[in-house]
Order: sequence, then C-alpha cells, then structure tokens
Amino acid sequence: MPLVSTKEMFEKAYKGGYAIGAFNVNNMEIIQGITEAAKEENAPLILQVSSGARKYANHTYLVKLVEAAIQETGLPIALHLDHGDTFELCKSCIDGGFTSVMIDGSHHSFEDNIALTRQVVEYAHAHGVTVEGELGRLAGIEDAVNVSEKDASYTDPDQVQEFVEKTGVDSLAIAIGTSHGAYKFKPGQKPQLRFDILEEVEKRLPGFPIVLHGASSVIPKYVDIINANGGRMPDAIGIPEDMLRKAASMAVCKINIDSDLRLAMTAAIREHFNQAPDHFDPRQYLSPARANIKELVKHKLVNVLGCNGKA
Ligand code: G3H
Ligand code: 13P
Ligand code: ZN
Repeated sequence: MPLVSTKEMFEKAYKGGYAIGAFNVNNMEIIQGITEAAKEENAPLILQVSSGARKYANHTYLVKLVEAAIQETGLPIALHLDHGDTFELCKSCIDGGFTSVMIDGSHHSFEDNIALTRQVVEYAHAHGVTVEGELGRLAGIEDAVNVSEKDASYTDPDQVQEFVEKTGVDSLAIAIGTSHGAYKFKPGQKPQLRFDILEEVEKRLPGFPIVLHGASSVIPKYVDIINANGGRMPDAIGIPEDMLRKAASMAVCKINIDSDLRLAMTAAIREHFNQAPDHFDPRQYLSPARANIKELVKHKLVNVLGCNGKA
C-alpha cells in the first residue's frame, strides 16, 4: 500500500465518531514504536514531521523510514507536514512525497491567513495532497517559538465558514484551550476545554474534520519515572483523556501527540541509565525507549482515539 492522503481517513473517522492519531516523528525508533503499535491494533495512522524534525533527521531519511514502515505493516499511513509556515516549505514537502501538509497561518491576520492557505491548497490539490489550516492560536512551545498565554486566542466560530470556503482546506485546526508542550495548565488549575466553541464550529461546518493540536495528556507515570531517575520536571499537566475521547466523538478527526512520546522515550532512557550506568551501546537504551513508545501508542489508539480496528 502506498502512502495515503487524509481524505478517506477523516471521512470514516467523522462518521465513526473516532479520531486518527497524528504522532510526531523524528527518528527510526519513534517510527517503529508507533507503527508496531498501530499494526497490532490495526489502526490507520498519520505520521507528522515538523520543520525542526526535518532539519534534524533529513527529509529523505524520514520519507524512506515511513515507506519502510508501510512495507512492514501494510497500514494506511499519511505522511504530514506539521506546522508548515511558508508556501515554499509546503511545496518542498509536497514535491518530496508527503501526502498531507499543514499551513499554519494562525499568526497572520485573517485575510493574510486566507491568502497563504489558499496558495498552498491550490498547489497541494493539484498534486493530490490534503491541506490542514489553522484558525485561532494555541499557547505553548512550537518549533522553538514560545507563544505566551496572552498571545494565544480561541478560534472564533463566526470565522470558520468563510475561512474554509475561501481557502478550500480539507481540515481545520482550532484553538479551544489545548496548548503545546508538557505544561498546559498551571499547578492547581482545573484543565478545561471550550467544548462550546467546538460545538459552534461543528454547527457551522457540518461533516467537516476538525484537528486538535497540543493534545498530549502528559501521562503522570512517565513524568514520575523521569523525576525518580534524576529528572527535574516541574508539575506538568496535560489534557485529560476523557476530554480527548469526547472531542473524538464530536467533529475532531485528528489528534496531535508529540509531548507524550517525548516523555515516554525519556522516561525509559533515564530509568535505563539509572539501573545500568555502565551501558554505552545505544541499542541497550533505545530498545526500552521504543518499547515505551509502542506501549503508549497502543494505549492512545484503544483508550483515547478509538481508531483501533479501523485500518
Ligand atoms: O507542535 C509542535 C510539535 O510538538 C513539534 O515540535 O517543532 O520541536 O519538532 P518541534
Ligand atoms: P503536544 O505538545 O501536546 O504533544 O502537541 C503536539 C502538537 O500539536 C504537534 O503539532
Ligand atoms: Zn501543533
């Protein structure tokens, strides 16, 4: 099976009341952990690459690793650019074999966001590639840029119809209170999402796939292991799983997860070195890291996204 676009995945997910996991990938072990989990659960997948990941691992290496994962698993997998910020970056990924791109114009004015997104959509659709746009702005860390809480803004439901009509995007990322990174809420703060905004968006765009960024749950088990093995993470709070399940049963068809992968991987490596400080063969500590990623992704597919058995 070749790489697929997100079109059919989202149609099925919307109708089925579940979401596809969009997992960020940076290296072979992460790709293997995620895809082995998806194979065992027979789940469709989106593997996404940020511009930082592309700089770190090299475009060609990542494409070839994902192609290898498809060969090994036979699963429908979309290869997606996460947070593309220019037309040129999106074009380069489309020309280089990606089947889906995000153009994140959320930091531009509404008009400029529409113009940039439209330009990417025209090129992408001419090449059979799907496009995700964004309206509203999440707080947190994105590609080394820290968006402060005061610069973050919820999506305005009154803008979504015009944005989708004028741009022709295939899916839309919205801001309802999720944020990037491991520190989404302050200690003592009760995590809350604006489901009222999601409902309003759904009413204005019936049947249209919505995307949630910044959707890691920051699973306490991994933070505890990190801190029990020499780490120094302050109180880290993520999005409760029941809220993600609720979103997945509504119009949300794609849920982005990166921080949870990082925590699972780091927890395994810290624990490993604490128990075996004399080890220096990378296979010794990358094997448990990969195993943790696999365990985490299986949990997400079955208990959070509900996309197991849907490949
Ligand atoms: O939203 C950002 C993703 O977590 C990717 O992070 O830009 O550090 O690769 P990165
Ligand atoms: P997290 O930092 O919550 O994992 O969000 C990842 C993300 O939105 C990637 O685009
Ligand atoms: Zn994101």
